[in-house]
Amino acid sequence: MGNKSSPELTLSFLLITALCLEAVHIKSRPYKSMDKMNWTEARLYCQSHYVDLATWNTVKKGALAEYFTEHGINQVWIGLHRDPEKDSVWKWINIKTGEGVSGDDLSHSSDWADKHPKSHCAVIGDDQMWHSTHCSKRNYVYCSEGDHISYHKIDLTWYGASQYCQDMNGNLATITKTNTNYFESSGWIGLYRQAGHTWSWIGDLSSNYSDWAPGEPVTEDCGLFDPVTEEWYSKACSEELHPLCFKDKLVVVNENKTWEEALSYCRNMTTSDFNYDILSPHYSDYSYLRERIYSRATTDEVWIGLRLLGGEWWLVSGEELNQEMLPECPSQWNHCGTLSKHDTNNWIPRDCSERRNFICYGEREKRE
Ligand SMILES: *[C@@H]1O[C@H](CO)[C@@H](O)[C@H](O)[C@H]1NC(C)=O
Ligand SMILES: *[C@@H]1O[C@H](CO)[C@@H](O)[C@H](O)[C@H]1NC(C)=O
Ligand SMILES: *[C@@H]1O[C@H](CO)[C@@H](O)[C@H](O)[C@H]1NC(C)=O
Ligand SMILES: *[C@@H]1O[C@H](CO)[C@@H](O)[C@H](O)[C@H]1NC(C)=O
Repeated sequence: MGNKSSPELTLSFLLITALCLEAVHIKSRPYKSMDKMNWTEARLYCQSHYVDLATWNTVKKGALAEYFTEHGINQVWIGLHRDPEKDSVWKWINIKTGEGVSGDDLSHSSDWADKHPKSHCAVIGDDQMWHSTHCSKRNYVYCSEGDHISYHKIDLTWYGASQYCQDMNGNLATITKTNTNYFESSGWIGLYRQAGHTWSWIGDLSSNYSDWAPGEPVTEDCGLFDPVTEEWYSKACSEELHPLCFKDKLVVVNENKTWEEALSYCRNMTTSDFNYDILSPHYSDYSYLRERIYSRATTDEVWIGLRLLGGEWWLVSGEELNQEMLPECPSQWNHCGTLSKHDTNNWIPRDCSERRNFICYGEREKRE
């Protein structure tokens, strides 16, 4: 006893849940800033004022409609971005690290307004206009050999078509100002997105002629949410729009304070929405909590509202814990509870005078 390196007391949250204490539920909510900014600025803004740009993992799309109506919002940035490493892929931003994107490819999501957000090849349509489309789609083919254009009623992918034309010593057709009359039906043309960025003609013939269908091509890199259609649009990242951030009731404070100082800090914090206290272990959504402290805490452990007083463990919220679940005497000095970034399943008793980051929690919503 009294040895600081004595085995750590750990408590399973599952046991606590079994005590039927009232659980605290986290509610993420959207927040729109008043200023317009480009996507990069929008993300930084959200990160410094709230948590991050909104994603459908954090903010329910359905819950947005009312909010938007209330605030008269039309178009806002969301945390959706083309994957810088694979151009055809769209992903939600990585909230865990605060950088880049992560997770599933969303380029096929039904939420897209334009159903071909990942298109890299082009066809000339029955409307005589160009449409960006998946290179793997099958279409008839226009080949050209010098000035000569030939049409082939054979179903091929864009790559297949390109090979097909080359086998005939030609190339997929390049459309110029002077040869447009040759194209009367729908089929692949030699237009493709080079390195995912710029549209080019395959082959040697150059052309600056352009005849994109309305809304084409979908080449932009940043995701926009339009609440009227409730769909996503790809948009140039440099456009100035309102960011749609999300916030929650958790604040990971990066200052290193003793447990007592942390408690006062939280209790002295106020915003227009909440009054704060140090996070109670009642908190229910530990996987979300893990992500928040993993990405934002600069110390391995963070203080939470758990304290040994008069030989009994107490929650700062006032309730007593079931003492039977806890060893009667943890080490002499380790009288305050922490959560580790690497293991949010257990509480760890630590010396209250140590300095570390901590988590404050918005207890009461002032507005409601
Ligand atoms: C296309 O190129 C021609 C000659 O190379 C030039 O005269 C014309 O202005 C260009 N058109 C566009 C839209 O750039
Ligand atoms: C966004 O704005 C910042 C600051 O004005 C600028 O440095 C950055 O290049 C812009 N990004 C884009 C994609 O336009
Ligand atoms: C808090 O402590 C951690 C770990 O010792 C350190 O990396 C971090 O910079 C400190 N933060 C402040 C604000 O002093
Ligand atoms: C509480 O916050 C106010 C305003 O930010 C500050 O002046 C004061 O020193 C704080 N008190 C404590 C105990 O941290």
